[in-house]
Amino acid sequence: MTNNIAVLGAQWGDEGKGKIVDMLTPNFAAVARYQGGHNAGHTVYVNGQKFVLHLIPSGILHPGVTCIIGNGVVIDPQALFKEVDELARLGIGVDGRLLVSEKAHVILPYHRELDVLSEARRGERKIGTTSRGIGPAYEDKIGRRGIRICDLLGDRDALAQEVRENVHARNQIIKDSTLDWKPVFEQMLAYGERMRPWVGDVSLFLASAIAQGDRVLFEGAQATLLDIDHGTYPFVTSSNASIGGVCTGLGVPPKAIGGVLGVAKAYTTRVGEGPLPTELTGALAERLRESGQEYGASTGRPRRCGWYDAVVVRYSARINGIDALALTKLDVLDGLDEVHICVGYRTASGTITEFPADLRVLNGATPVYESMPGWSAPTRGVTQFGALPLEAQRYIRKLEEASGVECAIVSTGSDRAETIVRRGLAMDRWLAPAPA
Ligand code: IMP
Repeated sequence: MTNNIAVLGAQWGDEGKGKIVDMLTPNFAAVARYQGGHNAGHTVYVNGQKFVLHLIPSGILHPGVTCIIGNGVVIDPQALFKEVDELARLGIGVDGRLLVSEKAHVILPYHRELDVLSEARRGERKIGTTSRGIGPAYEDKIGRRGIRICDLLGDRDALAQEVRENVHARNQIIKDSTLDWKPVFEQMLAYGERMRPWVGDVSLFLASAIAQGDRVLFEGAQATLLDIDHGTYPFVTSSNASIGGVCTGLGVPPKAIGGVLGVAKAYTTRVGEGPLPTELTGALAERLRESGQEYGASTGRPRRCGWYDAVVVRYSARINGIDALALTKLDVLDGLDEVHICVGYRTASGTITEFPADLRVLNGATPVYESMPGWSAPTRGVTQFGALPLEAQRYIRKLEEASGVECAIVSTGSDRAETIVRRGLAMDRWLAPAPA
């Protein structure tokens, strides 16, 4: 069996995948992003300086690890260059360690404008996107008029024609605005030249790395409930954030995935519009938001907060074949009198325990909770399961039972060291250090 693992979000994103990936990276030779774009955000600290990575896997901070951006990702070249420049300022070079798929699609300068316009046109039914042009870039990809990285590096005349046609299509959508295609074309050529040293065949690279025994970590962005197929459609992102995206977004076969680690917060958050069945309001929501610092890493928007939803995580476990969970931000629940886990929804047509496809079912639904006493002793920084307050241990056990999957990792703070790694569970072989 292969030693590669996928690490992906089991809720609506922002589960703290970054910390978990960062912690596991020393065990892997390569970290590969398979979908999304610079709508994702991971805050990292280098020499006490804070900055946010959106596109480049945070594995870049670990010397010797190859970072891959797969064909399933949509790339805004300007966003990529900004990250490369910031990394260079911190003394981290990407040459020879960054591989960008030649098949990845490009976010064109006006995709962002189209994103904002599409949201305005939806009015009340807006998605609450990150306004980064992600949706329109994927629309062009599926509409078979997208421009790929290899197009920027190939035949100039063919690229000129593609850009001309795309800009023409854009001018038809945006009334009273006529963009000239030539400056866009010139810009694309320049972007291509700057990217050239990093561009290559990701599928081929991964196949040979895996064949020679290197371990690869497949890194998800966003999360299962934001997946275009399995999420809360239409309030989703435009890519497959769940496990299927690994194969399509990198060109690797299913058998290359040896294990799946789902990341879930000890409560639930969401940014943007759409259902959040366990959503809290008032002082309790504020309390979670402040102690969990629940503000978007990409947009700074306050995140909506609610209790842990086991219906959602059980659904994610099924879709992704999750072997074990990394449960994050347990410490945020410290000091609450009572904690609740949602195990079903009471709807107009009865109680359901499976996540519905039709979101209207959730209108007016109320969560069915299992309630437990909270804990007053702090869990922050605890590194042994047995050292957690007994109530916190019971909370985790109940959550595992209701979600149908064990927690191999429990995160008790933002620092890498503030983590409990439980041995003897399904993920053991993937958590072990790589052989020297
Ligand atoms: P888009 O990906 O910008 O099109 O936004 C679609 C939906 O996904 C919106 O609800 C966003 O708030 C959400 N979303 C996109 N990226 C992230 C992320 O990294 N974390 C959490 N939500 C996200």
